[in-house]
Amino acid sequence: MPDSPLVPSSIAAALGPLAAHFDVEVLAECDSTNARLQARADAASGTVLVAERQTAGRGRMGRTWISDAGASLTFSLLWRLPAGASPSGLSLAVGVAVAEALRGQGVDGVALKWPNDILRHGKKLGGILIELAGSAAVVGIGLNLRLPAGLPPEVSRGATAIDRVIDRNVLLAALLASLHGVLEQFGPGGFAALRDRWQALNAYAGAPVRVIAEFAVPVEGICIGVDVDGALLLETAVCVQRILSGDVSLRPVKPA
Ligand code: BTN
Repeated sequence: MPDSPLVPSSIAAALGPLAAHFDVEVLAECDSTNARLQARADAASGTVLVAERQTAGRGRMGRTWISDAGASLTFSLLWRLPAGASPSGLSLAVGVAVAEALRGQGVDGVALKWPNDILRHGKKLGGILIELAGSAAVVGIGLNLRLPAGLPPEVSRGATAIDRVIDRNVLLAALLASLHGVLEQFGPGGFAALRDRWQALNAYAGAPVRVIAEFAVPVEGICIGVDVDGALLLETAVCVQRILSGDVSLRPVKPA
């Protein structure tokens, strides 16, 4: 059965009264929904662009985000934080919103990998890319409904998808509703208000991990979670090391 097409009125119907907080535009194709929204820095908070197909989807660390038309959900939300609010931990807060929405839609095995990967049964189901547009944040989210054809083997090995028929209008509405709740809390309270919920979703809680950063020696330790700013806390042989978001990724360490 083919995936349901994205239709603004169906998304609004699924959002119910929360639809008033969003202005959703569906594009058949664009380069990148993040790039399109960045070019519209004066757009109202709550503006959403969702694309059936991206020709130049952006991932973290300058990577490309590959998805097939109709087999993914790729969208960006422009959101304005209250004046003076710190964006520290925003991408982790967004992860909480996405993971909770997916679980609410019955997607099993969903967890979070610091800083902002959405995992399903330990493999990457989706990603989050937050960029700035003037004073606003552009929150870009990509989720695999089915794995795109032609993914390089090193990527497809670690990737997964929802892989069942799901109404993308309902899924998008659930994600937006969850984002609305989380971002309304994040505005006044910062990540501290959401930290416990992130910890409950941490895929590697209490697990031995290796943190690999560009231009730095890898660090190994036990993942003990994140602090109120969203920094990763790693218990090493000598201390608890605080690792800031950046070009860092986690690898489970197999016990000797
Ligand atoms: C990652 O590398 O894990 C982040 C991927 C983020 C992809 C999404 S798809 C919608 C939005 N538009 C983009 O160009 N990228 C983000």
